Amino acid sequence: MSRKYNIITYGCQMNEHDSENIAGLLESMGYEHCDDPYKADVTVINTCSVRENADKRFFGTLGQFKKIRKNDPNFVLAVCGCMPQQPRVVEEINKRFSWVDIVFGTQNISEFPDLLEERLRTGRRMRSIIDNNPDINEDDMKPVRMHRHKALVNITYGCNNFCTYCIVPYTRGREKSRPLSVICNEIKSLVPDGVIEVMLLGQNVDSYRDMAGNSFADLIRAVNDIDGIERIRFMTSHPKDISDDMIECFNTCPKLCHNIHLPVQSGSDRILKRMNRHYDRSQYLAIVDKLRSVCPDITISTDIIVGFPGENDEDFEETLDIAKKVRYDSAFTFIYSPREGTPAAKFEDQIPDSVCHERFDRLVDVMNSISYEKNQEYKGKIYEVIPEGISEKDAHTISGRTDGFKLVNFTSDKSPEKLMGRKVKVMITESKTFSLEGVEVSD
Ligand code: SAH
Ligand code: SF4
Ligand code: F3S
Repeated sequence: MSRKYNIITYGCQMNEHDSENIAGLLESMGYEHCDDPYKADVTVINTCSVRENADKRFFGTLGQFKKIRKNDPNFVLAVCGCMPQQPRVVEEINKRFSWVDIVFGTQNISEFPDLLEERLRTGRRMRSIIDNNPDINEDDMKPVRMHRHKALVNITYGCNNFCTYCIVPYTRGREKSRPLSVICNEIKSLVPDGVIEVMLLGQNVDSYRDMAGNSFADLIRAVNDIDGIERIRFMTSHPKDISDDMIECFNTCPKLCHNIHLPVQSGSDRILKRMNRHYDRSQYLAIVDKLRSVCPDITISTDIIVGFPGENDEDFEETLDIAKKVRYDSAFTFIYSPREGTPAAKFEDQIPDSVCHERFDRLVDVMNSISYEKNQEYKGKIYEVIPEGISEKDAHTISGRTDGFKLVNFTSDKSPEKLMGRKVKVMITESKTFSLEGVEVSD
C-alpha cells in the first residue's frame, strides 16, 4: 500500500505555492495525497506568523497531533513556513511539542526529502532553518498545482521594505528577483497542462528587477507575449515603487487583468511615516487617479490596519476618508497585532483593544457598504468569467472570476466540465457585498 501525505496550509499565496512545491517533492518520493491529516503517514503544517491569531491557531493544531504521534510512532509530523523562521518558535516547539519530527524554514524547502529520509532511517528529530539563503530558487521543483487552469508563479522571494509592523522581512529573508527568462520558461511549460491564467507573486512586485536589468513592466510585457496565456494577475503592489511604465501596461497588454491590489494600510500621513511606508496620502491618491485614467474600469482592493501604535481619532478618520475617496471594490481589514522583533512592537503608545475593535467595526461597515454599492453597477450587464469550480453550497452553481476579480456564482445549461478552463459570458442578475450572481449566456 502506498504511503500517504497531507499538507495543512496557513497564510498567503506564497505559502500556498510553497505547499504546491512540497506536495511535488512528496509525490516524487512516491507518496499519495490523502484528505485527512490525521490518517496520513506524513503531515506537513505550513505556517504563517503575520498576526498573533495565526500563532495561536498553529500551536493549537500542533497539540491535536500529540495523540496521533503517540499511537503511531511511524507517523511523521513536519512543520515549515514562516513560524519556524523565528528562533523563539523553534525553541518552543522543541520544549513543548516534542512530537514534531521535522522543522524546516521558508528558504530550504528543497531539503525536505533528505530530512524526511533521514528521519525515517534514524528516528532522529530533524531541524533545518536558513535565515537568508542567497541561492534560494525553485527552478527544479515540480509543483502539484491546486488549480488546473490558473497557476501561482513566484517572481521575487523575500522583502526589503521593513514596514515597522511586519514580520515578513524576518521570515522570508532579503528580496531576490528570479530571472525573467526563468519565469517565462516556467509559464510556457504550464500552457500544455491547461493553464490559462497566471498570478505573479511577490511581497512587492514593483521592486522586481532581475540581473539583466528587466523591470516588472518588462516582465508583464514578456508574459503578455506567451501564447496560450489569457489572463495575467499579480500581487502585491507597493505604492512607493509602482511605476508609470507599469501602469501603462494596463493599456498596452491586453492579457493584463483590470484589477490591482494596492495596500494603503492607513490614510494618515503621520501613521504612514511611522509604518515606514514611504508614501503619503496625496501620493497614494495620485496613483489611484493615474490608474483610473489609464484604465477606467480597473477594480482596486486594499489592505488596511487599524489601531497601529499612536493612531488617534483623527488618524483613523483620515483612513475612513481615504477609503471613501478611493471607493475600493474590496478590502482586507486587520487589527494591528504586535509581532516580536519588529520596531512597532516596541512603540510605547499601543492602542487599547476596545478602541481597536470599535474602529475596526466602523471601518468594516464603511468598506462593506462601498463594496455593495459598487457591485450594484454590475447588475444587468454581461461579463467574461473564467469558471474555477463548483460552488460549495450548491452543486448546480459554478463559481468563477471576472477580469476584475469579482467572484461570480452562476448557473448554466451546460455541464461544468465543459465550461472549465475557458472564458464564458455571464449575465449578472444579483449583486451582493462579496459576490455576484448570474446566468451563463455564451452562444
Ligand atoms: N507584502 C504585502 C503583504 C504583506 S502581509 C504588502 O506589502 O502589502 C498582508 C497584510 O497583512 C499587510 O498588507 C498588512 O495589512 C497586514 N499585516 C502585516 N503585518 C501585520 C500586523 N503586525 N498586524 C496587523 N496586520 C498586519
Ligand atoms: Fe511586510 Fe511591508 Fe514587506 Fe509587505 S512590503 S511584506 S507589509 S514589510
Ligand atoms: Fe504569513 Fe509568511 Fe505569508 S507570515 S502572510 S505566510 S509570507
